[in-house]
Amino acid sequence: MSTTAAAAPRVSERARKMPASPIRRLMPLADAAKARGVHVYHLNIGQPDIETPACMREKLAKAERVLAYSPSGGTPEYVASLSTYYAKLGFTLGPDQLLATTGGSEALLFALFACTEAGDEAILVEPFYTNYNSFAGLAGVTLRPVKARGEDGFHLPPDAAFEAVLTPRTRVFLLCNPSNPTGTVYTREEVERVGAFCRRHGLFLISDEVYREFVYDGRVATSALSLPDSDDFVIVVDSLSKRYSACGIRLGCLATRNPDVHSAALRMAQGRLSPPGLAQLVALGASEVGPEYVAGVQAEYQKRRDVLFEGLGRIPGVFLAKPEGAFYFVARLPVADTDDFAAWLLSDFSHEGATVMVAPASGFYATPGLGKDEVRIAYVLNVDDLRASVKLLEVALQRYREQRGRGQAQPPV
Ligand SMILES: Cc1ncc(COP(=O)(O)O)c(C=O)c1O
Repeated sequence: MSTTAAAAPRVSERARKMPASPIRRLMPLADAAKARGVHVYHLNIGQPDIETPACMREKLAKAERVLAYSPSGGTPEYVASLSTYYAKLGFTLGPDQLLATTGGSEALLFALFACTEAGDEAILVEPFYTNYNSFAGLAGVTLRPVKARGEDGFHLPPDAAFEAVLTPRTRVFLLCNPSNPTGTVYTREEVERVGAFCRRHGLFLISDEVYREFVYDGRVATSALSLPDSDDFVIVVDSLSKRYSACGIRLGCLATRNPDVHSAALRMAQGRLSPPGLAQLVALGASEVGPEYVAGVQAEYQKRRDVLFEGLGRIPGVFLAKPEGAFYFVARLPVADTDDFAAWLLSDFSHEGATVMVAPASGFYATPGLGKDEVRIAYVLNVDDLRASVKLLEVALQRYREQRGRGQAQPPV
């Protein structure tokens, strides 16, 4: 019997459409720069340099001799610690309203899968956390972005803008507060406006609050959990990654008072068996972290923000609104294509043996063509390194414009 070879199998359309992270895409260029002996200041990624509290790290010594699966929704001790954390914020959440997840990332995935069918749509403000593109792609959800303006500090546009992208397939409003990448902290009035919009149109509100503690100048982040009559439609995504400078712990949670959403997420969690067990052990140490830790971290990041805001604001043609929270901002640069500029910084530029890595902002938008003259900057380096980074960016912008010449955007007058 003769056999003919079938065409080679191809990866799925979903796989082909999956974007590379704009935060990590340029890493090979950064590695090559380092191999040439160039020091690279990383302003591209939200990996804080602050130590994870010792009271958490010490818990590792208490690991059992068998590193077993934990219950799919989390160990009773970890879930109880989450209840205590939320109680301190003024929210009563029981074990059947909380679910341990592998980082906030998995909570986002579970929330999207629980609330949407493939082909449904989610409204969100752009620029947005770039990985929402990936999560939406996995869930088959189309993002319907509404543009926020840097001149308004990236605060919410009027409701009419959201009404304009609403369709019969809209199921979800995805809000990130405080915002990565813009550093915007939405006011209570804005969060209430989003809540009212969701209620009016029967949408779920997935509120990503992983930067809740990172708010400056006396601001307070308004949790969607505080919205009145929100029990049926609010899902909060949370994470220990940034709060305790513990990104590698890979632990977070999903919080919702909607029993159907919780039950669906728990069944998904059962499919992946268990959230990380060692992480849940380490997380128990968080109950010993005092308010002075959060206050100290807040003060440190506010100082860093000020250094960058003042330093970058002095560079001709650079525009940024003063960030209010998280540890990122989106800055407009006097260049036409920040994808090219960010790659050039790593492959063609160095000054006194160093360069900077930034994330081109186009990957933080869903609308093609937007963000081409913007970068996202993370301020997770110490103040001295940030000052050095500002100087490098100033020199780089001047040299880049001299080299690339025509075709570059002129600084706004
Ligand atoms: C806005 C936002 N949400 C969610 C996450 C996911 O965090 P993790 O999976 O580390 O908890 C991040 C990480 O950077 C983030 O910036």
